[in-house]
Amino acid sequence: MEEPCRLPSPTQAATTGMLAVFLVAIGFATQTIARDNPAGSELQGASALARQVARGTGQVLGGGGLSAPQLGMTLVSGAGDVVQLDELIAAGPAVLFYFSAGCSHCEEVAPEIGRLGQRLNADAALIAIASGSNSLSAARDFVARHQLPGSVYKDFSRQFSSRNRLQSTPSVLLTAPSPEPGGFETLAEYRPFAPGMSLLVEMRLASHLGEDPWSRVEQGQYYGPKACGACHLDEYMSWGLSHHSIAYWTLHKGQRAEDPACVGCHVTGMGEPSGFVLGDHHSPLADVGCEACHGPGGAHGGSSRDPKLSCETCHDKDHSVRFDLERALPHVDHFRPEILEPVAYRELRQALVDGRAERPLMAFPKGKHLGQGACVSCHPAASKGWRSGPHAGALKTLTKRNAQHNPECISCHDLARDSDAAERGYFGEGVSCESCHGPGEQHVAARGGTDNILGLGSSCPECIIEALCTSCHTPEQDPSWSLTGDLDRLKRWHRAPAPARRPASP
Ligand code: HEC
Ligand code: HEC
Ligand code: HEC
Ligand code: HEC
Ligand code: HEC
Ligand code: HEC
Ligand code: HEC
Ligand code: HEC
Repeated sequence: MEEPCRLPSPTQAATTGMLAVFLVAIGFATQTIARDNPAGSELQGASALARQVARGTGQVLGGGGLSAPQLGMTLVSGAGDVVQLDELIAAGPAVLFYFSAGCSHCEEVAPEIGRLGQRLNADAALIAIASGSNSLSAARDFVARHQLPGSVYKDFSRQFSSRNRLQSTPSVLLTAPSPEPGGFETLAEYRPFAPGMSLLVEMRLASHLGEDPWSRVEQGQYYGPKACGACHLDEYMSWGLSHHSIAYWTLHKGQRAEDPACVGCHVTGMGEPSGFVLGDHHSPLADVGCEACHGPGGAHGGSSRDPKLSCETCHDKDHSVRFDLERALPHVDHFRPEILEPVAYRELRQALVDGRAERPLMAFPKGKHLGQGACVSCHPAASKGWRSGPHAGALKTLTKRNAQHNPECISCHDLARDSDAAERGYFGEGVSCESCHGPGEQHVAARGGTDNILGLGSSCPECIIEALCTSCHTPEQDPSWSLTGDLDRLKRWHRAPAPARRPASP
């Protein structure tokens, strides 16, 4: 089979460490997403690297230019013996996993390190080194709990961390004996190590062993966006500004991240063997990642799929008001110019996380409002229900307070004549049909239909309906808003609109 990907030349220098820091910054897990944002300097460096990669000259798999590891020191083994680190790993490549038993990020990556250890087999030794602040028993517990293969050691003198400038856990150094006797080289360093990066460790190791690195990308295996981002940085950064990168966070905020009815479309690969597993909140496959559209492992190894065919598996009629590929595609642009401007990037990322980003798909169909008088003949039951509910009286409420002409108030209490015009008049009928269902011009002209008006189908109220309702029921105006309660009340007024009368054929 023809090799689909060029591997960047192994001679150029790169700083995988800086890259790792940067990758982590977009959001280690949904928990930290709101806090972390890439710092400007990292970003500048990262985009320089991205340009190298784009030119095919970047050395993204580490090696060349990394300073030699410092391994001439003693550690204490899990059994309490003092051992010499350089002697321990003199025989061949080693993956040094530097961790701290009390660190939540270490807990997150430990299972992945465990699986990596299993796969390394005889290619490299896995050495777990606990930071000096750990007790030996805590370090032993950690390794046993996560079933890490290999042995555990403690950096009791803190020489390993200080001499290798390891300032945070978890970190991973990939080392190998160098040609000169007694020497070592650093093949790659991941500081910190983030979920999904074990692929990079394996690829780097393979190229060191003279094997095809791409052979380590397993068919059908999901890796998560950080593994992809190490090589496709522009794409990763741009993805970080899209709603896909916070899809799991959205569920988490609404306390629905455990709900099997919701999770599938807000994560990557759920239901597939190596895909997202319900309840695994720290998985690199939480959120709609690269592989949700590109397929597991991306386009490597000959498995290429058209990402455009994936959209509508999630953006179906009930979950995406008006999904239309032509309108949606520009919003998954992988080369957004903002990623080159750290300040703009930070602001956009923050706006996204805070729920202030534009939602380009959440738009009504085009056309003019006609007022509820245009609906009543075909929808008498819904009209009667509407009249008995609170929305029909919304304008009267303002009139009582002599605020019916106050532009500050009226936009939420009445229906605008024109959905697009800036200078707009109002119908004087309160919050009516088209306030929720969108402009009826096309629908009425067609004398009915379901693709020209929003049906507000009920299979996923949260996805669309909540956004609609809360455009007026804001926290300021309605602090006690709750979708389930308020939607139930609405449905009671609006209850079971009788089937629309089919108009007689003209
Ligand atoms: C070790 C670096 C590396 C990693 C990791 C990596 N890629 Fe790639 N990828 C490449 C290179 C190099 C190419 C070829 C680019 C070219 O030919 O211009 C490529 C090509 C692609 C393409 C096809 C581009 C095209 O023009 O058709 C897609 C899609 C892609 N990768 C997605 C992914 C995804 C998704 C992941 C994560 C699962 C990933 N890649 C991980 C380096 C990498
Ligand atoms: C695995 C499911 C999934 C796939 C596949 C998917 N999306 Fe999405 N998409 C989502 C979810 C979920 C959100 C909302 C995330 C949030 O806001 O929390 C979203 C949001 C969006 C948004 C911004 C939403 C808005 O309100 O305007 C756009 C644009 C978009 N997707 C386009 C696409 C396109 C184009 C494709 C195909 C190339 C695609 N999506 C594929 C699940 C998916
Ligand atoms: C069939 C796939 C699918 C399922 C199942 C699904 N969603 Fe979504 N969800 C989406 C898509 C696609 C979007 C983006 C919609 C858009 O912007 O057009 C979205 C958007 C959202 C949003 C963002 C809307 C906003 O407020 O801006 C929320 C919240 C949400 N979904 C919650 C849920 C909950 C809760 C469930 C379970 C009851 C769920 N989703 C099930 C696909 C799905
Ligand atoms: C919402 C779906 C979606 C997601 C998520 C997504 N992509 Fe893409 N990607 C696309 C589409 C659509 C194209 C354009 C394909 C085309 O034009 O045929 C594309 C193109 C690419 C290409 C080809 C060259 C380029 O950049 O245009 C690469 C490489 C790539 N994506 C990598 C990634 C990586 C890495 C991630 C995650 C950080 C990612 N994609 C996330 C939909 C997606
Ligand atoms: C000439 C008759 C007629 C008029 C006038 C009319 N409708 Fe309808 N409407 C229909 C028919 C027929 C259907 C059912 C289509 C179907 O189920 O195939 C329908 C369906 C709907 C639906 C459900 C759509 C869906 O996707 O399930 C909504 C909402 C709706 N109409 C709102 C309105 C509003 C708002 C107005 C006034 C602006 C209005 N209609 C005016 C005939 C009409
Ligand atoms: C265009 C703005 C707007 C939209 C959209 C809207 N509402 Fe309202 N709603 C109002 C106003 C204004 C009132 C207060 C009416 C009054 O008492 O004068 C209200 C009142 C209510 C009430 C009764 C008062 C309360 O909060 O207890 C309920 C329940 C309600 N709305 C539910 C909903 C639901 C559910 C949706 C979404 C399907 C929705 N609304 C969409 C503006 C809106
Ligand atoms: C962002 C949309 C929005 C704006 C702007 C708005 N309202 Fe409201 N208003 C609502 C909603 C939603 C409710 C229903 C809240 C509820 O009852 O829980 C409401 C309810 C009311 C009520 C009934 C509250 C009660 O306690 O019975 C009054 C009175 C009112 N609004 C007056 C005003 C006035 C006066 C202004 C302008 C200064 C205004 N509103 C601006 C959305 C809005
Ligand atoms: C405050 C928002 C709101 C207003 C105002 C409103 N509706 Fe609805 N409408 C909804 C929601 C939400 C649903 C879905 C209810 C459900 O799932 O049971 C719905 C359902 C419907 C349906 C049934 C759609 C289907 O697929 O079965 C029709 C028809 C309809 N509305 C017509 C109207 C007409 C006509 C008016 C004005 C007289 C109106 N609505 C006013 C929110 C509203």
